[in-house]
Amino acid sequence: MKLRKFIDPLPIMETKKPEKRARRNSYYEVEMKEFTQKLHRDLPPTRLWGYDAQFPGPTFEVKQGETAQVKWMNQLPERHILPVDTSIHNLASQPIVRTVTHLHGSVTKPESDGYPEAWFTKDFRQTGPVFTRKVYEYPNNQRATTLWYHDHAMGITRLNVYAGLVGAYIIRDKKESNMDLPSGEYEIPLLLLDRSFHADGSLKYPTQPEDASPELPNPSIVPAYLGETILVNGKVWPYKEIEPRKYRFRVINASNTRTYQLYFDNNHPILQIGSDGGLLRKPIELRSLTLEPAERADIIIDFSQLKGKTLHLKNDLGDGAAPEDETHDVMQFRVNKRKNGKDTSKIPNSLSTIKSLKGNQVKAIRKLKLIGSEDEFGRPLLLLDNKKWHDPITEKPRLNTTEIWEFMNVTNFTHPIHLHLVQYQVLDRQPFDLTKFNEDGSMVYTGPATPPLPNERGWKDTIAAPSGQLTRVIAKFSPYTGDYVWHCHILEHEDYDMMRPFKVIKADEE
Ligand code: C2O
Ligand code: CU
Ligand code: CU
Repeated sequence: MKLRKFIDPLPIMETKKPEKRARRNSYYEVEMKEFTQKLHRDLPPTRLWGYDAQFPGPTFEVKQGETAQVKWMNQLPERHILPVDTSIHNLASQPIVRTVTHLHGSVTKPESDGYPEAWFTKDFRQTGPVFTRKVYEYPNNQRATTLWYHDHAMGITRLNVYAGLVGAYIIRDKKESNMDLPSGEYEIPLLLLDRSFHADGSLKYPTQPEDASPELPNPSIVPAYLGETILVNGKVWPYKEIEPRKYRFRVINASNTRTYQLYFDNNHPILQIGSDGGLLRKPIELRSLTLEPAERADIIIDFSQLKGKTLHLKNDLGDGAAPEDETHDVMQFRVNKRKNGKDTSKIPNSLSTIKSLKGNQVKAIRKLKLIGSEDEFGRPLLLLDNKKWHDPITEKPRLNTTEIWEFMNVTNFTHPIHLHLVQYQVLDRQPFDLTKFNEDGSMVYTGPATPPLPNERGWKDTIAAPSGQLTRVIAKFSPYTGDYVWHCHILEHEDYDMMRPFKVIKADEE
């Protein structure tokens, strides 16, 4: 079904209001509900799941150091709005509608991190095998940045997120607030999502790939999914009327599988000031910005010379794109007159200090293969180090130690690799031959290691690990011990075992 572009204005998510707020802590309640919402003027209302019955959910705004308690409540009906594959992870024995919320990029104790098996059903009537607590607590003791929250329930994350369980979460600090970056109505979160629809407005999501064998018990592995339309803040291909001045956009790729390569049709510069873990050292000027699933970019766009012009934010699909693919468009900006006088915002040349984690303090180097495999029915799977979710924990960093994790991608495509608990730094990438390996299984490098891209030289929690490359990151595992996860953030991969537990152990633990 064909939808007209740029006929709906860009929505801005509501700011989440706390039930209670004191100086150093706040308490929120969020209900996950089923509801319908208009996602495009010509599309009948879409049945969705959302936090506080909104899609995307409300945006949290917290101060650094403010403890935010959130009671995430499941008020969803008993039927999933998308077909659930119960042939994995013993899901047949579990309730279908279960949720658990994860605050992506946050440094949080394990019991508030949204462990995939810490799920719960309506009114907490039933809980998962490792259920933790009803009220989550986020210390927000980390750099000011853009986080996002989303569902993380075991084996159905792709479906719960696709149904609409996503939202933005902003941590602010004094230093940044004193910087005169564009703020107020000139600071706008842009949550990028891709979805497909049936003519009646309902969400379209495949139940099985075209080439799946009908003999399988439940042939519904969807190896990746790209929606046919692009939504920003919950509207399909919206437009935004803006003033000729600087804007700050906090861009979040909240899509299941899709990677974006964003650019403006007039080649207008994109000034990136922040990444997943907050401000970069200095602004980086780009003509094209790549965002893998779950990656965020804090960007400044200066429209001051563009009064009266119309710009389009585009998505480069590469040469292989099908002619009917409409997802090369993202949204439109219409630059109007100035409303509020002069633009006094400033972008300093030096944004923040970032100390490089030191290689000489490294306690462990983990070589981790991203590799193709099969499940018990012969269906293709992608695995981390050839292990499935239920295999024993192998990654056990000690508290307060620094480790290097090396992602050796022997599959044919890029996987965005995410670790919970930590913000890491990217060390380098080195290409190797995908067709021949040394006798001991080590790779044959085909070129030197290259440093991360300029806009990757800040704190990251999700990073592209391209095919045929060794991508190395360095992280310090602190300040909490306990059970966390790491995974590919392509949700269709994550649900089918491209996710592993890891456990931060005490200094003297075995
Ligand atoms: Cu954005 Cu483990 O998640
Ligand atoms: Cu996360
Ligand atoms: Cu993947």
